[in-house]
Amino acid sequence: MAGAHSEVLVTVSPSTEPNEVAPAVAALDTIVSLAKRRGFVFPSSEIYGGINAVWDYGPLGVELKNNVKRAWWKAMVQERDDIVGLDAGILMHPQVWITSGHVGSFSDPLVECGTCRRRYRLDELPGAESLSATELRDEGIVERLGLKCPNDGGPLSPPRRFNLMFETHMGPVQDDASVVYLRPETAQGSYVNFKNVQQSTRKKLPFGIAQVGKSFRNEISPGNFVFRMREFEQMEMQYFVRPDAAAQVFEEWLPRRWDWYTRYGVSASRLRFREHAPDELAHYAKKAVDVEYRFPFGWKELEGIHNRGDFDLSRHSEASGESLEYFDPATEEHFIPWIVETAGGPDRAAFTFLIDSYREEEVRGETRVSLALHPDLAPYKVAVLPLLKKRPEIVSLCHAIRDDLKRDLMAVYDDTAAIGKLYRRQDEIGTPWCVTVDVDSLEDGAVTIRDRDSMTQERVPVEGVRRAIIDRMETARG
Ligand code: GAP
Repeated sequence: MAGAHSEVLVTVSPSTEPNEVAPAVAALDTIVSLAKRRGFVFPSSEIYGGINAVWDYGPLGVELKNNVKRAWWKAMVQERDDIVGLDAGILMHPQVWITSGHVGSFSDPLVECGTCRRRYRLDELPGAESLSATELRDEGIVERLGLKCPNDGGPLSPPRRFNLMFETHMGPVQDDASVVYLRPETAQGSYVNFKNVQQSTRKKLPFGIAQVGKSFRNEISPGNFVFRMREFEQMEMQYFVRPDAAAQVFEEWLPRRWDWYTRYGVSASRLRFREHAPDELAHYAKKAVDVEYRFPFGWKELEGIHNRGDFDLSRHSEASGESLEYFDPATEEHFIPWIVETAGGPDRAAFTFLIDSYREEEVRGETRVSLALHPDLAPYKVAVLPLLKKRPEIVSLCHAIRDDLKRDLMAVYDDTAAIGKLYRRQDEIGTPWCVTVDVDSLEDGAVTIRDRDSMTQERVPVEGVRRAIIDRMETARG
């Protein structure tokens, strides 16, 4: 087979304690260093020493995150007749956040060390991770559990509530009257636009409003790479229903959201549902279930599904004086709709896809690293590679194929190493297919398509390459 580079595969997986679900990657650092080295994610403002809890997406990261957002939008808006999109402002009338309860109660329990002055989120301290929400509010809890500062063993203060809202000022005068907030969730933009959207689209209940965009939280203990940041993005959908339908609709959204992650490649064995205990529920929620993922640092929330009742629309109705009731023409009833919310984020989702797709295999005595990303999520779908970069006819055929592919998808040309190394580099960033042009291509007008996961190769006529890749993308979608 011309251009063939035969490779033998042996799988190596991380070990774990019996009965425990192993993370896809044992050490978080493996992903952090790959992300930096290959241009997925960089620390923000790095040349100035960085800024805590903000990360920048590099050339590959922005493609991955855009693909995640696109995949979410496809599932939540494009493929559904009952959900429409919205892009509300990050800055809103400050009353929105007073009415929503965020100014009063969007807070986490903070403790401070009496000697080194470091501050911690109480529920993240060793020994306090499984405290109930009631215990986290208990002034005597630190003393009773004998909790000490993890840095220097110093005494910790009793917990106090720390509000997570970022404040800024609108206009040239910085006084109390000019205070505005950077939104901590996209959801409120959908609530205050409920009437605008419903009336302009003539949607009947049940229907949803989907949003993707930046949110900001002054997290006490950000960390674990892009898992918890102070500036991040959310993908949230608010589904408006009749009050008597909310409980069932809530249950229906659970498997849908689970399936979205598995459809794009996350192993079901590393996902679980976790219902919030009554005293853990957010101020707006009647019921909440998290989709959790087994990160290298434990089981953590990937997305939350919330039954918010009529809390939001009732409060905004009362505070604004604008009725947010819905008139049901079928039953001739007026009522405030209830809301079922699905609340995830592209940062956490992209991070999960990176971790879960990470593979280390032994190929001919060497370790091959690959990201088995779903082709819809992969930054590049195809890399076009010359077997001999010194032959101008080969290089120009590569460029022609790459240009043809670019009409439909992200394709890249690379000739900076020998073919074996070029394959490895593309494997490591998750490129599903490599197209290799060799000397025979100039004679028989055919090239090799090499598959990332199986490493098998197929000879295809040059003019059939674009179709062959599009067909493979279709097959991957199922
Ligand atoms: N509107 C409801 C709401 O905001 P949430 O559970 O606080 O619910 C929803 O946030 C999702 O937003 C989370 O599941 C996570 O994916 C993402 N998210 C929240 N805080 C984040 C942070 N500090 N950094 C990165 N993503 C975050």
